[in-house]
Amino acid sequence: MPGLSRFVLLTAMAIEMTTTRTPLRERLVIGNWKMHGNLADNAKLLAALRPATTATTSAQLAVCVPFPYLAQAAEALKGSSVSWGAQDISVQKQGAFTGEVSASMLKDFGCTWALVGHSERRSMHAETDQLVADKAQAALAAGLIPVVCVGESLAERDAGQAISVIQRQLAPVLALGAEAVNKLVVAYEPVWAIGTGRTATPEQAQEVHAAIRAALQAIGAGNVQILYGGSVKAANAASLFSMPDIDGALVGGAALVADEFLAIAA
Ligand code: PGA
Repeated sequence: MPGLSRFVLLTAMAIEMTTTRTPLRERLVIGNWKMHGNLADNAKLLAALRPATTATTSAQLAVCVPFPYLAQAAEALKGSSVSWGAQDISVQKQGAFTGEVSASMLKDFGCTWALVGHSERRSMHAETDQLVADKAQAALAAGLIPVVCVGESLAERDAGQAISVIQRQLAPVLALGAEAVNKLVVAYEPVWAIGTGRTATPEQAQEVHAAIRAALQAIGAGNVQILYGGSVKAANAASLFSMPDIDGALVGGAALVADEFLAIAA
């Protein structure tokens, strides 16, 4: 094949490869504020995020804030393209469950998202794989989108168990069935990369994302968005996002700095 037409063919194939995934799965970047913030700092952060649109950031943007600040986030972001949500949810609908917050309460504050099964909840609050799946189901029942977090510890990775741990964590979620699973988002957050500054390499992350994709595909939910989380920052976002099965990010520390968070989404 003459050089020029070969070049044209390869270019066309490259364009085809980069354009086919986008319409299927929109890029999504969610900030997890954890237990940070106060009314004054939040107001500045939310005001800086408010003008962001998918045109300026090329990603759908969202923030998951502490419960007491949901009303503030709702007020500051309503009418914008930035959505908001909570960092946890109760499996219970209502009743004598002191300290718990139900899915319908989150709906009252206009939430779109609820994180479930974040590794800090799994480890500090002894949340089991089944409880996490039940929380995902409670979120879905109220019309929220659960972001189901999974991830292995360093010891599990070193023992070669990363993928089997993720499969175990996902099993009760997949058991909810294709209809439910097609409405949720999965976030892969290796525990050893959270808040440590040690990000998984794009290849390490892609390997696990591909395994998650295969598990989702097996039940007919192959187009679910799979986010990566763990020390994501502007400097490493592009290389992570270049991986075929990484559809966005769940961002902790860097989500507290508006410029950094917006740069990740851009
Ligand atoms: P990090 O946290 O970005 O600060 O590592 C991510 C997360 O825990 O969701």
